[in-house]
Amino acid sequence: MKNIILIGFIIFVSGCTNIPTMPTSNNITWLEQGWTEQERQKFHHTSQGTMTLPIPYEWFSALEQPGFKLFGTKGLVVENGYLARLGFITGEVTPYNQAGLPVGFSVDYNVTNPAISKTTFNAIGLTCAACHTGQMRVNDISVRYDGGPAMTNLTELISVLSIALIETYVDEAKFSRFSQRILGITNTEANRKNLRKSLKHTLKNQIQGIVKLEELQLAGLRDKARKDIKEHPFRNRIKTIRDIIKDRKKSTAEGFTRLDALNRIGNTVFGTATGNLKNIVKTDAPVNYPHLWNTSWFLWVQYDASIMGPMIRNSGEALGVAAYVTLDQNSPNNFDSSVKLDNLFWMESLLGGTTPPTKNKKFYGLQPPQWREDIFGEINQKKHAQGARLYAKLCQGCHLPPMDSEKFWSDTYWTKPDEKNLSYLDLPIVDIDYIGTDPQEALVLIKRKVDTTNIGLNTRVYLEDKEWFTEDNPVYFGSKSTDCKPVMVTDGKAQPFSLSLGATVQSVNNYWYQNHNTPIAQQEKMNGYRKNCLRAPFAYKARPLNGIWATAPFLHNGAVPNIYTLLSPVNERPKKFYLGSLDYDTKKMGYKMIKAKGFFELDTTITGNSNKGHEFSNTPGKGVIGRGLSKEERYQLIEYLKDIRVVDNNG
Ligand code: HEC
Ligand code: HEC
Repeated sequence: MKNIILIGFIIFVSGCTNIPTMPTSNNITWLEQGWTEQERQKFHHTSQGTMTLPIPYEWFSALEQPGFKLFGTKGLVVENGYLARLGFITGEVTPYNQAGLPVGFSVDYNVTNPAISKTTFNAIGLTCAACHTGQMRVNDISVRYDGGPAMTNLTELISVLSIALIETYVDEAKFSRFSQRILGITNTEANRKNLRKSLKHTLKNQIQGIVKLEELQLAGLRDKARKDIKEHPFRNRIKTIRDIIKDRKKSTAEGFTRLDALNRIGNTVFGTATGNLKNIVKTDAPVNYPHLWNTSWFLWVQYDASIMGPMIRNSGEALGVAAYVTLDQNSPNNFDSSVKLDNLFWMESLLGGTTPPTKNKKFYGLQPPQWREDIFGEINQKKHAQGARLYAKLCQGCHLPPMDSEKFWSDTYWTKPDEKNLSYLDLPIVDIDYIGTDPQEALVLIKRKVDTTNIGLNTRVYLEDKEWFTEDNPVYFGSKSTDCKPVMVTDGKAQPFSLSLGATVQSVNNYWYQNHNTPIAQQEKMNGYRKNCLRAPFAYKARPLNGIWATAPFLHNGAVPNIYTLLSPVNERPKKFYLGSLDYDTKKMGYKMIKAKGFFELDTTITGNSNKGHEFSNTPGKGVIGRGLSKEERYQLIEYLKDIRVVDNNG
């Protein structure tokens, strides 16, 4: 009887992972972006102190791929090629990556996580490069570049791991191989029993944290989980969990290249880390991983231009990717965390460079990728010049003049120099009622409330609170200043998410600084000489378009596959398309829209996925920001976006 259930379960589970087969190429080119090979390798694998994967590194290395084979056994999850099918770039063994893991994975040896156990273990987590390293394939060349959006499917990775863990738990044979790999010569009955116990504990923890219930979509398992929960001291949480499952079913799938970063950070910090599960909400504001060249010098970051402090953004992200943190006012270690602020500072400095751009009118740090004519094809100079004229007329009002122009470096766009003689690029933000693109991302900070009771917040943050737009002026060019109004944030039942997150991260950072005896001057330096200033406009920022050709899909939610369709009227943009293919379309500028098993269907009719707005059309309407463009004009603009620079148009 037991076996029949098991076999049924196995068949059920095996159908649950759906990962594509990816053709591989041995012809690999990393584009030149101003980093040394060593800097790149280090950036790819330096830990920010996260424990994204809720299992020790040894388990991760010993897990078999989900599913079963009639004869023989499945390969390991970490085996070359398997994670590549989820879009992860195969890594090289270097001193920074002794384990030879894919780009963006890092191992922290001998850490403790009081939430898991008192003994030390080796944690595995994601670092910036997991989400911010781009790749594409052209003529069988695999082109890679730093700071570009990653073609990875993170939610599928978590599903794969969850299913692999469950299968290892329920299938004796899998478990026996798993324990042999982990225990080796210490594979005794007693040790096996212990390992099994930890495995069960981990699975239960996952279920308790509702990490993946709805994603597993295993009705039978869900019932079992509920029963487990009932038998354990979480009885009063059952209703909450049921509500959350129901609610999260309404989430919008993220798929390749996207993540609902804001809502997930909120869920992890205020839901999982505090244990207050009521703070967990559905994730329906997916965004495309933004590109990172030049962003260190943006006064405001995030698509909705909501955060000023780089260390707040980075440390907040690290908490979101599951760094360990204590959030409990009764704990003597309240706000202690595993976040590594020193590493975050190093990464930020590598991205932004240490020489301020206004000094020599040039950005240091990570450079935008260049359109290599030998790989992508020659730039047609005539069309390029025509595109330059169109850009000056139709685009640069929002996306700024070319970076090699005098105008770009004028105080129209840069803040007044501060005491350190530093200026920041204060990018225009555009009212969503005017730009007409999907509002979900911007609404998160405007609408979401969290219960912060017992966290122990008593923290000063800063706020830019104003009317940014008027009826006839939907574009706000910024105050050109870093001044903001101080506000105290304390605990409460329904506090604004934005302020609460800002205050929590601030407290976590303060704890680290104190714990590491960091002098004030060094703290200010690490904070990027900017205050923890926050704002929540109903708007998205317009940014310079250098290197934009390498950042498909487009708009903040990735709902438009290529530049050609972005410059076309909405009714000519595809309503559904597939993400997952690495094949680059050099003509339309984006990934080729190929349908294949395991690719992600992006359906633009679902909440958070709208492909409307930012439209060039002769039919006036919401979201129309300019006149219609002929097909030739669209291609002229595409030609110009390959190399944005001042063009002598008199010749
Ligand atoms: C799990 C994926 C993930 C990881 C890991 C990650 N990011 Fe991001 N990052 C995102 C997403 C998604 C956004 C966009 C969020 C938004 O605006 O709603 C983002 C936004 C940003 C931005 C703002 C860009 C802009 O245009 O305003 C910067 C800068 C940034 N990340 C830097 C980093 C750095 C540095 C690290 C490592 C310390 C890092 N990120 C780690 C996914 C990630
Ligand atoms: C009224 C201001 C405005 C004008 C004019 C404008 N844009 Fe934009 N653009 C924006 C804003 C705001 C966004 C971000 C919208 C979003 O992500 O939802 C954007 C986004 C984009 C993106 C996508 C960036 C990304 O990260 O995916 C591209 C490409 C782009 N614009 C190209 C152009 C071109 C080419 C023109 C001229 C033909 C142009 N824009 C004119 C404001 C403008």
